[in-house]
Amino acid sequence: MGDNSRLRVLLIGAGSLGRGFLRRLRDHGGPVELVGVVTAHHGRVLDSAGIDPSLAVNLVESDGLGDSAPSDLKKMIEVSGAQAVVECVPQNIRSGEPALGFMRTALDMGIHVVTANKAPIVLGYRDLRHRAARAGAQFRFEAAVLDGLPLFSFVSQLPATRVVRVRGVLNATSSVVLETVGQGASRSRGLARAQAQGIAEADSVLDLDGWDAAAKAALLANVWMDGALRVVDVARTGLETLKDDKIAAAAETGARYRLVAEVERSSDGNIRASVEPVALEPGDPLYALRGNQGGVVLDTDAGQRIVLLQQTAGVEDAALGMVQDCRAILGGFPQV
Ligand SMILES: NC(=O)c1ccc[n+]([C@@H]2O[C@H](COP(=O)([O-])OP(=O)(O)OC[C@H]3O[C@@H](n4cnc5c(N)ncnc54)[C@H](OP(=O)(O)O)[C@@H]3O)[C@@H](O)[C@H]2O)c1
Repeated sequence: MGDNSRLRVLLIGAGSLGRGFLRRLRDHGGPVELVGVVTAHHGRVLDSAGIDPSLAVNLVESDGLGDSAPSDLKKMIEVSGAQAVVECVPQNIRSGEPALGFMRTALDMGIHVVTANKAPIVLGYRDLRHRAARAGAQFRFEAAVLDGLPLFSFVSQLPATRVVRVRGVLNATSSVVLETVGQGASRSRGLARAQAQGIAEADSVLDLDGWDAAAKAALLANVWMDGALRVVDVARTGLETLKDDKIAAAAETGARYRLVAEVERSSDGNIRASVEPVALEPGDPLYALRGNQGGVVLDTDAGQRIVLLQQTAGVEDAALGMVQDCRAILGGFPQV
């Protein structure tokens, strides 16, 4: 059943990010042995002897993967001999499903989970962490916020230090749309650009109305600040109320609109989170961001201010983040 130097992975979802993950394995090799690929409408394939990622990409983009494999996740894990599930299905802000169910099933079987899906993490963070710990599995989500930027790994390495405030540009599609409008083109042109890059959510309302950024803000509150926020607890203003002429006028003065998320934990433990469009001025640490790049300004209880900005962003970068999670599991790195 393969070698121990690679993690045996069942990939669920082969859309934009899932295919990016497969391309990453095809082009760079790495710590993963692919033993299954599952989609909703493009078939599914399992092979405990290993699947060529190149073949999987070709099939999912042409005839489909076939339908001979069982459809029940528990059986798929058993048949494939997977050690980890890499989950890449669309985000469902309301229920987190079907991803949440997939993650619970896998973790309860002692199978590691790697995901970049925000909503199920927000909704089920404590439960998923508990299930993972109980089963001796890892639950990793480095690519859920800012693609491949190692945000959670970095913060987990800060000794006895807590993040108490985050301010960041967390949603790439809205950034591309705002930049496009600032250059004098239409929102639909901006959205088309983001879709062509493969970074837009399947339902673009999640990006443009601030839901995706709100999900990320809630995730950071729950993971770093011991919060129990739901996405609806984040005060949210999307792009819908921001007029194009206001974006253009800001651009003329040198300012750049971005959807900015803020999360703050006060000394009494209360957490306040918001998402709203902000015209960033040149002195702002987030001003340097271009196109689909994102970043965060972190304030810690030790009085530090730390700025992390993406230079590379997008699907390939998010796929790298997921591969890095696999590498961390294989290497026995501690849970972040
Ligand atoms: N795209 C990015 O740059 C990026 C970056 C970071 C995080 N993410 C997150 O990654 C996740 C996936 O995003 P995406 O852009 O790759 O979405 P996507 O292009 O819509 O692809 C979703 C994939 O999931 C499959 N799927 C849907 N329901 C399923 C089910 N019940 N069982 C098995 N497969 C199912 C779909 O199959 P069919 O195609 O056959 O319908 C498709 O292959 C989202 O949670 C998103 O927030 C994406």
